[in-house]
Amino acid sequence: MESFNGLQREILRLIKEKNALVLAHYYVPMEVQDVAGAVCDSFAMAQKAAKAREDLIVICGVRFMGESAKILSPEKTVLLPSLDAGCPMADMVTPEDVLRLRAEHPRAQVMCYVNSSAAVKAVSDVCCTSSSALRIAKELDCEEIIFVPDRHLGSFVARHVPEKKFWLHPGFCPTHHKITEADVLAAKRAHPEAEFAVHPECAADVVKHGDLVGSTAEILNFARKTDAPEILIGTESEIVERLRRELPDKKIYGVGSSFVCPNMKKVTLQALYECLRDEKYKVELPEDQLRAARKSLDKMVNS
Ligand code: 13P
Ligand code: SF4
Repeated sequence: MESFNGLQREILRLIKEKNALVLAHYYVPMEVQDVAGAVCDSFAMAQKAAKAREDLIVICGVRFMGESAKILSPEKTVLLPSLDAGCPMADMVTPEDVLRLRAEHPRAQVMCYVNSSAAVKAVSDVCCTSSSALRIAKELDCEEIIFVPDRHLGSFVARHVPEKKFWLHPGFCPTHHKITEADVLAAKRAHPEAEFAVHPECAADVVKHGDLVGSTAEILNFARKTDAPEILIGTESEIVERLRRELPDKKIYGVGSSFVCPNMKKVTLQALYECLRDEKYKVELPEDQLRAARKSLDKMVNS
């Protein structure tokens, strides 16, 4: 049985009183995850937001996640606890970049990682998450794909879908990009029996050592199911903490030092409490952007 502190109990009371659906990403602080109605990877978060019955949805994550929830459930009130929790990778690509790439490669379709702004989704053909990217790239009815903004996820997909030609935007996640092959090799030397689960936002020379390459939820499921008593984790440090708590009989190690997404950590318990209390910050998007972005997100959720 979970034991909650005073602020957590007050949050749970507000969630009930307002009949809110609180969705948290696995990278936000654990004490915030503990009061959420569901803790999700990006794909599950989009799916749950699309199906929500509650009129009030609170997205404990970064801005693009709140925007995606609003695009998929435009008639609902969608709140973000922290206004300045953005994603530096999402900010690396603009709609103008996408239009320029389209002009350069007119036969290609644009596949856009969900870690992008609504404006970029609005000029893309289909969205994907790390758990759906391979399947969607294989299914897309075209021979060339422009992939934005993550060059690492894009190159991972390109390596697994050799029948298509890929044009990659050079964006990257600053948190995952910090994990180096030297970190992985040192961790493997220190723990030679361990299996390695890694996120595809990491560079190719890191990902190539993975026994499992997958989204946050896929990494968690791999760690839960494997018989290996030791597991190395190549993603944001909250996943390491979660697994240590969930699987006390297994040895869970992060590779290198801890890799933290500072934006996800802005979603604190206090911010969530004020968000529910004052019903702030509402996600609002221009009508035309909402409609255009919805097409590419709907394709992802329904694929
Ligand atoms: P997933 O939860 O889909 O693996 O996404 C990771 C991420 O970086 C979210 O910003
Ligand atoms: Fe963006 Fe990386 Fe943080 Fe995810 S972990 S929100 S991709 S900066």
